[in-house]
Amino acid sequence: MVPNMFQSILKYKKYRYLKLSLLSVLASYILYLSQGSSQPANGGTLQGYILGIFATFLVLLLASLGIRKRKYSSNLGKLQGWTSAHIYLGTSLLLIASFHAAFQVGWNIHTLAYVLLLAVIFSGFYGLYTYLHYPRVLSINNTGGTQNTWLEEMGEVDDKIKAQASSCQIEMRLFVLSALKNTILSGNFYPQLRGKDLSKIREQSNKKLIPNKNQQRIIDAIATAIPQSMNQAESGALNQLLTLFSRRQRLLKIIRRNLQVRAYLKVWLMFHIPLTVALMAALIVHILVVFIYW
Ligand code: HEM
Ligand code: HEM
Repeated sequence: MVPNMFQSILKYKKYRYLKLSLLSVLASYILYLSQGSSQPANGGTLQGYILGIFATFLVLLLASLGIRKRKYSSNLGKLQGWTSAHIYLGTSLLLIASFHAAFQVGWNIHTLAYVLLLAVIFSGFYGLYTYLHYPRVLSINNTGGTQNTWLEEMGEVDDKIKAQASSCQIEMRLFVLSALKNTILSGNFYPQLRGKDLSKIREQSNKKLIPNKNQQRIIDAIATAIPQSMNQAESGALNQLLTLFSRRQRLLKIIRRNLQVRAYLKVWLMFHIPLTVALMAALIVHILVVFIYW
């Protein structure tokens, strides 16, 4: 889904799921308060059971987002509704689960389920923050581009660079072509995450590859060569190259930044999804343990 939709997801149908979540929390709070006449508030009273079952139902509902995402990938409206519900109901679980446990947490297997629930919810906050914080980078942004458009433009700029390079002297031509050839868009996951530019260029004198971070090496070389050019055709081509490489420098920065934010999201999902799996396992254990020992 297009991530900068998250702002409209939060407002989905005039905050329908925010309202539903507040209602659920209120109803859960009333249930929680209604305990205590025969037994103090805890997960084992009738109300405690209802709250525990409700919390577990919500966890299962939220965990099914992964399946919904794939199933409704062509139906954005429905998916937006699910994601909106996911965020608000997920957050409401903070309180609903605490009411179920009557805020009794200790060093035991029940608390493991609770701690994992908190971990999933807080990792959810981080994911939401990432989606909201980088909408411009991730999707159709103010300058009107998406990752594919940037990549297409890069291809066009590269073609123009090759055409202009043919009017330059052999040394410069080879230098320019090696800048294109040794540009590294993303590299492995770690440089992608750090937003590192590992691009290189081959020095013609000693054939060694040297760093060409932000295309600066080639830009400097062209700028130095312009006043020394032999004729007007060559100086015209060098001027064009300078403009084209400046554009290329800008495009590469945007593309690399997009990849970096996408890497942030990948790392985030590496926490959110396994933590969900661990939570479900801990819940099964929690339920088994209370049924065996209660
Ligand atoms: C998101 C779901 C759930 C979470 C995070 C959760 C967490 C907890 C926690 C932290 C406690 C307090 C343990 C203590 O007193 O030290 C508790 C108690 C309890 N829970 Fe859950 N629970 C969940 C769902 C359920 C469900 C579905 C059931 C039953 C069907 C259940 C049954 C109980 C019972 C009987 C107790 C009282 C156990 C005791 O006090 O020793 N819970 N739960
Ligand atoms: C018990 C609570 C939660 C569970 C079990 C849960 C589980 C999941 C699962 C399974 C996915 C699907 C990931 C995928 O397949 O790509 C997901 C996505 C997501 N979750 Fe949660 N989550 C919970 C709470 C939260 C909370 C509280 C928030 C934010 C406040 C949140 C924010 C998100 C976001 C932003 C996505 C990505 C949606 C997308 O890519 O379209 N989650 N969650």
